[in-house]
Amino acid sequence: MLVAPSILAADFLHLESDIQALNKGADWIHLDVMDGTFVPNISFGFSVIDAVKRIAEIPMDAHLMVVHPERWFKRLAEDGVSYVSFHQETAGRRTAANIEEIHALGMKAGVAINPDVPVKRLFPYIGKADFFLIMSVFAGFGGQKFIYESIDRVAELRAEIQKRGAKALIEVDGGVAASNAAALREAGTDVVVAGSSVFKSQDPLASMLALREA
Ligand code: DX5
Ligand code: ZN
Repeated sequence: MLVAPSILAADFLHLESDIQALNKGADWIHLDVMDGTFVPNISFGFSVIDAVKRIAEIPMDAHLMVVHPERWFKRLAEDGVSYVSFHQETAGRRTAANIEEIHALGMKAGVAINPDVPVKRLFPYIGKADFFLIMSVFAGFGGQKFIYESIDRVAELRAEIQKRGAKALIEVDGGVAASNAAALREAGTDVVVAGSSVFKSQDPLASMLALREA
């Protein structure tokens, strides 16, 4: 599996060395952008993304937990972000248009949903989106407990993608650790986001490699 550590759990006083560790052992750098409106928390914005860009040697993956995500696509493209996901809950009928805008800017588009949104809500975007982000905790905070039903949700989405003969990556985000990674892989997950299980571990590099090999 691909591993996309979330820097939300990194040490912001030592962000440079944390990013350098990701350059060695991760596949993507997951950037959790929160606006305090779509989710009850505020994380970071372009000042941090601009800084990460200067030392990132692997693709950046921006997860927009904001209302009006479309306001930020251009800026993210200018910052060299490769993957952008936004929530279907906020985009609603704009979802397909958002995917097209992200593509026009040369980035890969992902549609995200929280654990209480039916997986079927993603089906209209199969064949359009490059990836889907299944939240395995409610968006807003790192360090929450993995919701086990998420594994079935991945399997349901994977089955539908296969049935339609389409291609899309499935990314899972929230509470991912060595203990659930193998089951996620088996259900059809391609990319796992991991914050706490990487940055709060004794050996972040070993934790990333363990997830990769799951
Ligand atoms: C939650 C974020 C996640 C989170 C993951 O709103 O989207 O990416 O930072 O952190 P852990 O792995 O600690 O659940
Ligand atoms: Zn995230």
